[in-house]
Amino acid sequence: MKIAIDGPVGAGKSTISDAVARELGILHLDTGAMYRAVGLTCLRRGINTHDEAAVTALCQDLRVDVEYADGAQRTLADGEDLTGLIRTQEVSDAASLVGTYGGVRAAMVKAQQRLAATQNMLMDGRDIGTVVLPDADVKIFLTASAEERARRRWQEMRDKGEDADYDAVLAALRERDAQDMGRAVDPLRCAEDAVTVDTTHLSFDESVSAILNIIRERTATRL
Ligand code: DC
Repeated sequence: MKIAIDGPVGAGKSTISDAVARELGILHLDTGAMYRAVGLTCLRRGINTHDEAAVTALCQDLRVDVEYADGAQRTLADGEDLTGLIRTQEVSDAASLVGTYGGVRAAMVKAQQRLAATQNMLMDGRDIGTVVLPDADVKIFLTASAEERARRRWQEMRDKGEDADYDAVLAALRERDAQDMGRAVDPLRCAEDAVTVDTTHLSFDESVSAILNIIRERTATRL
């Protein structure tokens, strides 16, 4: 079984995908983590993320792997586990930028397709239904309004005790959307055969149920 979940930043893809995959008993590959691993490696090695040739050259040699411990994904670069280091804003910005480079995307897509070739998998990202798994059994486009996605992010930051300004969070999110949807190579878009799930007015549990229902409906009619 191959399930593709795509959507913009802040739609809750990772956490919702994780819950859906656990319910289905299949592995979840968070492909954003792989772009984050490339971004972090650039920062650590002093490679300018604006230098496409240098970042592309890095990706020709860099081994980005994933492993699973108790069903949870660990993301590695050249054998080093970077899982705990890739969730910062700096890494997020670097990931979004390096993800605009064709050479980086080609390397990541190849690694992702290799992982999906041998096992059932639910993948989340920006180009899964359109590029990585064009033959996926079910494709979901998970979205929510920009204002609601920014509100959730703002709330998350406040809950962590961070001093967050809603307007700044919304502006950063719109910028990220523009970068992910406007890039020349494999921009984020809804695959023609994807089902859109808009979580603006759904709770986390409702979002998970909605997706599970779509997957069960679609896969049942195929059997
Ligand atoms: O899903 P995320 O926020 O962890 O992804 C980080 C960045 O990586 C995001 O801004 C766009 C990029 N990305 C991508 O280009 N293609 C993917 N399949 C997944 C992520």
